[in-house]
Amino acid sequence: MKILVTGGAGFIGSNFILYWLKKHSSDYVVNLDKLTYAGNLENLREVENNSHYKFVKGDITDRQTVDKVMSDVDIVVHFAAESHVDRSIIDASPFVKTNVEGTHVLLESALKHKIKRFHHISTDEVFGALPLNTTEKFNIKTCYNPHSPYSASKAGSDHLVRAYHTTYKLPITISNCSNNYGPYQFPEKLIPLAITNILEGKKIPIYGDGLYVRDWLYVEDHVRAIELILQKGKVGKTYLIGGLTKDISNLDLIKMIIKTMGYNPDELIEFVKDRPGHDRRYAVDWSLTQNELGWSPKYSLKRGIRETIEWYKQNNKWWKRVKSGEYKKYYTKQYKERR
Ligand code: NAD
Ligand code: TYD
Repeated sequence: MKILVTGGAGFIGSNFILYWLKKHSSDYVVNLDKLTYAGNLENLREVENNSHYKFVKGDITDRQTVDKVMSDVDIVVHFAAESHVDRSIIDASPFVKTNVEGTHVLLESALKHKIKRFHHISTDEVFGALPLNTTEKFNIKTCYNPHSPYSASKAGSDHLVRAYHTTYKLPITISNCSNNYGPYQFPEKLIPLAITNILEGKKIPIYGDGLYVRDWLYVEDHVRAIELILQKGKVGKTYLIGGLTKDISNLDLIKMIIKTMGYNPDELIEFVKDRPGHDRRYAVDWSLTQNELGWSPKYSLKRGIRETIEWYKQNNKWWKRVKSGEYKKYYTKQYKERR
């Protein structure tokens, strides 16, 4: 089987490729990635000389490139996206372009080339936000109500993917997952930002009151869920994927990380201006995915955090390189305005 992975040089895509080639060594993987600031081929060092792996530098909004790579693949796993909420608040244009237009280009090409399965990776953020102190969770019947330019663009892409199934019978599946964390995550997102700031002796910026809640999913658990959807998922269906987390506020999560790393939270936390339109709480009901596919997350938050801290400690060179250059400019702009 030949799989086209879009955005495979990013955080989740690279974890998926490394996992897939290890477990399905007779398959072929083509990775189409534009290598934006978030794309990093160093994530894929382990497979770069594997004859079953090929990297193509290209943009999913470019029809010609997409048609060329799509011509002989069996399935598509579509990760490529602009993925950071804060960046979408600064400038929404690349989000609309890549997430909506790019997905459309891929769908057209998938149809033309009679792709056997188009799996679209989406987010729980399309559902909006839940109130604090409830047991309410997002489920597949929850109405879309995105709040940020990022989540609105992902919602747009989800609707297009479903429309191509309903209208043209394109064999699609969709997964909406919660906040991932783990190896190779770009340190603009909360957990790797916190770990690497601690390793650099810097403070961790907490937005607003810090009482925001996310549903934390270890990336390997996510990748296993995608594997099961590709193997056993029903065409046309949506699967929700979440972590093994009881509600935990950003503040408590960061305190836990600081303590696990042996430091004093009082010295390392800095409250900064809140994110505009900040979603209060996310929580995902993944019971249908469990019932249908036999999937459940294996990593408790404690174990996942321990492994993630260890990975960042062992991979100093990786994140130090990532944190220099373009990222440094973004970080200065983003956090200067919040203090
Ligand atoms: P990421 O930002 O780490 O990686 C995105 C990748 O897409 C990068 O390699 C980038 O170069 C590539 N890319 C961007 N624009 C492109 C374009 N126009 N053409 C080709 N490649 C392009 O993102 P991630 O965290 O790995 O997320 C992957 C997917 O999962 C995204 O669709 C995201 O919306 C979704 N998701 C992520 C999370 C999370 O917590 N990280 C949670 C829910 C859903
Ligand atoms: P983030 O990792 O950006 O993911 P998302 O916005 O997609 O959920 O943020 C996770 C939570 O952490 C979110 O509530 C915003 C908050 N946050 C901070 O408090 N400080 C930070 O520096 C960042 C990046 C996020």
